[in-house]
Amino acid sequence: MRRAKISIVGSGNVGATTAHWCAAAELGDIVLVDIPQTGDMPKGKALDLMQASPVVGFDSNIIGTTDYKDTEASDVVVITAGIPRKPGMSRDDLLATNAKIMTSVCEEIRRTSPEAVVIVVSNPLDAMVQRAQQVTGFPHNRVLGQAGVLDTARYRTFLAQELGVSVEDVSALLMGGHGDTMVPLASCTSVGGIPVTQLIEPNRLEEIVDRTRKGGAEIVGLLKTGSAYYAPAAASAQMVEAVVRDKKRLLPCAAYCDKEYGVGGYYVGVPIVLGTAGVEKIVELTLTDTERAAFQKSVDAVRDLVATMAKIA
Ligand code: NAI
Ligand code: 2OP
Repeated sequence: MRRAKISIVGSGNVGATTAHWCAAAELGDIVLVDIPQTGDMPKGKALDLMQASPVVGFDSNIIGTTDYKDTEASDVVVITAGIPRKPGMSRDDLLATNAKIMTSVCEEIRRTSPEAVVIVVSNPLDAMVQRAQQVTGFPHNRVLGQAGVLDTARYRTFLAQELGVSVEDVSALLMGGHGDTMVPLASCTSVGGIPVTQLIEPNRLEEIVDRTRKGGAEIVGLLKTGSAYYAPAAASAQMVEAVVRDKKRLLPCAAYCDKEYGVGGYYVGVPIVLGTAGVEKIVELTLTDTERAAFQKSVDAVRDLVATMAKIA
């Protein structure tokens, strides 16, 4: 059987760590890409990772490059290229720089991997994925963004810690943009099948939701030199796995919604079925009035961000 070809653009913290998780799970052959100014750095990281293969026991070929020719005919392209946040910066502060980077990366991908499923990770996520689709011109189902898997993982981690139970027993869903307006859905959160509202008092649950919303900033504040990467990379690798193994995972991802949820043509976090075709279905839930209002507020924030991007970059 032919191995999947996975290209990861941006060989920094998130990119290299995504390569690590993908290799360990033997998801396919991996190409780590970066800009020429980084010299041989992508080659060095790829070689180092390859040399872990006899120890960990995976058969993946991993190369590093600054030449998009090496990425030709990729099945999946993960885009992590861009600058990360520093303390005091919001994701939106990254907009102008990362929009230009996203445009240049996507012009290359359009040419070299016209059939790929593209998973965008760079921030501000919801605007970057919109830009990626506009520049590649790929069908909307083949361009999506990673945010909800990470945000949900943070929420599940905090809930498991609060209750002293295994994270495996916590199931949860978040919707909306990857920002402070994200919408954790208490109605879709359960622990071993028990609704979370029966286990945690409303005020305490709100505190956990608030910590989840600020989960990225919490890590930035601790690291001081960049933003989170282990969990974001694990989340990205889970999405790669869903595509290359056609898993039909039901995951929260940034997907293009037009009539869905009345969004009107923007990328925003919603539950989707993710398989080899990319976004195979957008799952439409019945939201409570409060949830719908919060989701709308989040969509409005995404729309403003996309409008700003159109003016500045
Ligand atoms: P990093 O600084 O460690 O790595 C970024 C890499 O992108 C660098 O190696 C840089 O040389 C490269 N790069 C810059 N311009 C490029 C271009 N035109 N082509 C190819 N590569 C290019 O940053 P890190 O921590 O890996 O974060 C990457 C991005 O991912 C940031 O925008 C960050 O905000 C975002 N992020 C998004 C998350 C999400 O859940 N959606 C979670 C974590 C980070
Ligand atoms: C995060 O949520 C920075 O978006 C990144 O950690």
